Amino acid sequence: MLAQKTVVLGITGGIAAYKAADIASKLTQAGAKVEVVMTESATKFIAPLTLRNITGRPVITDLFEPAAEHSLEHIALAEATDVVLIAPATANTIAKLAAGIADNMLTCLVLATKAPVIVAPAMNDNMFQNPATKDNLARLKARGFVIIEPGYGRLASGKIGWGRLAEIETIIGTVKQMLGRKGDLAGKRIVVTAGGTQEPIDPVRHIGNRSSGKMGYAVAEAARDRGAEVTLVTAPTSLAQPVGVEVVPVQTAGQMKEAVAKAVAKADALIMAAAVADYQPKSISPAKIKKEAPTLTLELVRTPDILTEVKGDFLKVGFAAESEDVIANAKEKLKKKGLDLIVANDITSAESGFGTDTNKVTIIDRNGKVESLPLLSKREVADKILDKVVELIS
Ligand code: C5P
Repeated sequence: MLAQKTVVLGITGGIAAYKAADIASKLTQAGAKVEVVMTESATKFIAPLTLRNITGRPVITDLFEPAAEHSLEHIALAEATDVVLIAPATANTIAKLAAGIADNMLTCLVLATKAPVIVAPAMNDNMFQNPATKDNLARLKARGFVIIEPGYGRLASGKIGWGRLAEIETIIGTVKQMLGRKGDLAGKRIVVTAGGTQEPIDPVRHIGNRSSGKMGYAVAEAARDRGAEVTLVTAPTSLAQPVGVEVVPVQTAGQMKEAVAKAVAKADALIMAAAVADYQPKSISPAKIKKEAPTLTLELVRTPDILTEVKGDFLKVGFAAESEDVIANAKEKLKKKGLDLIVANDITSAESGFGTDTNKVTIIDRNGKVESLPLLSKREVADKILDKVVELIS
């Protein structure tokens, strides 16, 4: 996603400037060409040399009079870049941007660029709450700047409040989302389910499964990065909420069915990566079940089959976790559930399936076309599935 993209990383002078090194590193590792532009005060908090080594690129600063042949470098960058990210952005820089002041390399570049500009403020909580800052941010937003709201927590002053730079993952996710906004799924609505549903037995226990949710989350993020509007209906997982995605948390198969039915109303595709429980307790004990009897029998009833029951004019993608006859079973499931696409994997393999970061799948479409993929990261598998979705939608 970030490969072959140019990201201008503007760093301004605040304590959080040290975090910009991590942002630069993550963007560079993801394949982006990161061009760092630092204000003079930023260089008091973090050395340009650090950024130069992390990005492998020269760093533009206001420290020296730029050499004649260098003086238009920031203007050329303003035209060449795919996105501008200012992180951290101080109250001072935000005020200058709002007023259209161009008195340093960074503010000049922002005035000169047509690329989207993302601003991640970080400052003292009183400065952040000040109506002047609020007004300035509102003005930037109205002009199409993307503002990544700061978080709540410990500030440099030692106080707890609003003003901390947003989480790095949120910042990187926003950059990816902006870069993908004109991708091959732009204008499409995709509903993804993820995680393992939990069927309560009593107030403290449930029947669950070992699904980590990683595959579904990877699909949701990949679809977002290709420009789709994504709704992620998720059973409980330990994963961080992806940015730029509408997240609908659910617990049971019944709740997931309801949330999916609502979400697909205007959808172009439903991708069911969730491990939905097949059975649920016939009744939920209102009180905690005591361990008195030597044996306990639970009566279970079938859960609704969401994929089979959900109706509408959208592409249906299912998953098939199989332990034997993978392809044959998946083909049968595709027919039985009326799917357009099924993603089959052999769950007996150690590197594939529950909890892993990799997956080895076979994708079968409604026309019987079978594509067996090598072992890939779940993100790569997600993009392969979406390639197929794009092909079938158009
Ligand atoms: O029938 P099986 O559970 O193997 O099918 C797996 C596929 O069906 C997955 O895409 C899963 O999300 C979906 N499913 C469903 N509702 C259920 C069980 C599974 O939509 N109750």
